[in-house]
Amino acid sequence: MIVDSLSRAFFYGLAGSGTLKKVASRYGLRRRDSFGRRFIAGETIEEAIESVRTIEAGGLRTTLDFLGESVGSSAEADGITREYLAIIARVTDAGIDRNLSVKLTQLGLDVDRVTCIDNLRRILDRTGDNFFIRIDMESSDYVEQTLDVIETLWDQGYRQIGAVLQSYLRRSTDDARRLSALGIRVRLVKGAYKEPASVAFQKKAEVDEAFVRLMRILLDENPYPAIATHDTTMIEATTAYAAERGIGRERFEFQMLYGIRRDLQSSLARQYTVRVYVPFGRQWYPYFMRRLGERPANLFFVFASLLRER
Ligand code: FDA
Repeated sequence: MIVDSLSRAFFYGLAGSGTLKKVASRYGLRRRDSFGRRFIAGETIEEAIESVRTIEAGGLRTTLDFLGESVGSSAEADGITREYLAIIARVTDAGIDRNLSVKLTQLGLDVDRVTCIDNLRRILDRTGDNFFIRIDMESSDYVEQTLDVIETLWDQGYRQIGAVLQSYLRRSTDDARRLSALGIRVRLVKGAYKEPASVAFQKKAEVDEAFVRLMRILLDENPYPAIATHDTTMIEATTAYAAERGIGRERFEFQMLYGIRRDLQSSLARQYTVRVYVPFGRQWYPYFMRRLGERPANLFFVFASLLRER
């Protein structure tokens, strides 16, 4: 676990490097076998739709993630919101799964709450009822604000919106009960950011134990939880608990990330609903670094791919 947190810290350091970002942006997605393509479907919505069609043809569901992180002005947040509106139109035309994962800092959470809520409402008004918008969870500084924005829109009658909870956060048990009591759908993940011990468990065993505890609460109390992990121990704990409690397969789903454990995605999809999180867009570098931080062995294919590029 010490190695785990050191590697996360290391890749977080790299994520801040402007030079690396430039190199990565130049080479990372250029060709189909470029290193970024392992985890990112492409830079454009058309490339993402092509990947989604392949995944859906294999019997899996999808959620699209238009990559990007915090914006610093309401003009930028407005620009991103307009890009989302164009993406929604394109997804609807393409006839693929109507499911998007959105980060609130892209919509102006760091600018001010009202800007962010207004932008999210523009998206929800455009999508209507048969489109689902999952709000991704970012670092711990944003958790309370993120839940507040989701609950505010829920109170205003928007029902096609869901949240994400991270099992590494000490607060998540309370949040799982709070969201479930309202009827808001939750995606459960372990958590991808570097967090201090004051707010987050640091040991893998504690994060996993919390994951199982939260999974049980969500299966019992949440309308339709998404159990998002590639960890077979967590997946087996979920299927065993569902069987023990007589919870049907239509009451929850599994989710996994594009390019990770594709074998497991396909085999699980033969019995359960499995949704693949498909990221695309020009700002792919921070997302990519989080994936490397989870598994430094991934560096191997980055180097192999860079050698091919030369
Ligand atoms: P764990 O890290 O223990 O990995 C279990 C196994 O999965 C590994 O042994 C390996 O085989 C495989 N694996 C995991 N990561 C890999 C990688 N990068 N490369 C190759 N193999 C890998 N986080 C967050 O903070 N906010 C969010 O909104 C989301 N959203 C989200 C959506 C979906 C659909 C998923 C699946 C995950 C997220 N996450 C997230 C990320 C999540 O918090 C977590 O960092 C990753 O899912 C990795 O954790 P696992 O549960 O897979 O377990």
